[in-house]
Amino acid sequence: MPAATTDGMAGVVVANSEICYIDGEAGKLVYRGYSIEDLAEHSTFEEVAYLLWKGRLPLKEELDELNAMFSEERKVPNAVYQVLYHLPPLTIPMDALRTLVSYLAGADPEVDDNSPEANFRKAVRLTAKIPTLIAAFHRHQNDEEPIRPRKEGSLAENFLYMLTGQIPDPLVSRTIDVSLILHAEHGMNASTFAGRVASSTLADMHSAVVAAISTLKGPLHGGANALVLRMLREIGSPENAEAYVRRVLEGEYTIPGLPPKRIPGFGHRVYKAWDPRALILRDLSRKMGEKIGDTRWIDISEAVIAAAEKAGLFEKGVYPNVDFFSASTYYTCGIRGRLFTPVFAAARIVGWTAHIMEQHADNKLIRPRANYVGPQDLKWVPVEQRSAG
Ligand SMILES: CC(C)(COP(=O)(O)OP(=O)(O)OC[C@H]1O[C@@H](n2cnc3c(N)ncnc32)[C@H](O)[C@@H]1OP(=O)(O)O)[C@@H](O)C(=O)NCCC(=O)NCCS
Repeated sequence: MPAATTDGMAGVVVANSEICYIDGEAGKLVYRGYSIEDLAEHSTFEEVAYLLWKGRLPLKEELDELNAMFSEERKVPNAVYQVLYHLPPLTIPMDALRTLVSYLAGADPEVDDNSPEANFRKAVRLTAKIPTLIAAFHRHQNDEEPIRPRKEGSLAENFLYMLTGQIPDPLVSRTIDVSLILHAEHGMNASTFAGRVASSTLADMHSAVVAAISTLKGPLHGGANALVLRMLREIGSPENAEAYVRRVLEGEYTIPGLPPKRIPGFGHRVYKAWDPRALILRDLSRKMGEKIGDTRWIDISEAVIAAAEKAGLFEKGVYPNVDFFSASTYYTCGIRGRLFTPVFAAARIVGWTAHIMEQHADNKLIRPRANYVGPQDLKWVPVEQRSAG
């Protein structure tokens, strides 16, 4: 048997895929042949969803049709509101999202149909409904009535509308739209891999998405963006950043949820240079800060980067990742920290479902092996004769 990998499968290639290309040394990200910079500048999230699912940019009538499907599918069954009212009071939004997506499986007429056509329709339904679930649960936790989706407007606009009841400012909705594009897909990341493993058993799309949501939740993956906000708040002002970063890197203070000596929003398994998504978000975050007349969060973020570089993280190939500037960006767009990871899920649902479709289209069960390193040839003894150790 080949030697076991003990480094989290770093560098292991598990599938051929036509969806996404990443060059971690060059800091390059490409969806289906298009650079992330090009898509972020010119495209919409809806168009990128079509691209990731179908493999090419849509024609005008195809995009119109997809947008019509999205506006039709934003509503959720009334019973979903009853389910979310009955979730235990301490439920966090990511757990609510996982539960509600699981609930939606039973309400989907095509749940067990893994054909490409049904999978596409389910991908559209899930992408359309997830913002409705997140916003409704958030409002419920704030003792506010849920706001039903509008048929008009983009997915980003509708999400912001369902959170606040206000039609958002165009810069805010475009900022969230671009952020959704940037988070939509990222190769064989942990949550996508979890989704692919589940779908490789020929489990249905909803089941695979629940596995992916569960995996995104962790602080080493999608949970990092909320911890970045926590860090920015703890730092409070740019001049405190250097001492804070030093304390963390020297192990005097550990950010709850992370291993010791880790700065949230830094480092990446694949990128050993600037994450190109972070650079795009950095500009958006600055623009949003200037728009609302409060650049404090982006200023503290920049001070953290300067301190991290000074402490030698860049020399080690540890740079800011996508989660780093999502924090200041989302916060200045009026989104609360507890929703950051669910918003990540609202974007990554497109990548997950694209991969599930790719897996189902040419399936082979994903079933690796472990290298057994435990004891051998032990002899069973009756319970009365056993001794500790
Ligand atoms: C994402 C992450 C889990 C990738 O980890 P990985 O590929 O297993 O990398 P490693 O843990 O092997 O780290 C390699 C080196 O970089 C350092 N490093 C990695 N991320 C770091 C961080 N966020 N802060 C400080 N140092 C970091 C490690 O301490 C290690 O240093 P060493 O070689 O001196 O021991 C890791 O970078 C991390 O914990 N980041 C913080 C959480 C985060 O932002 N997650 C979102 C990712 S998009």
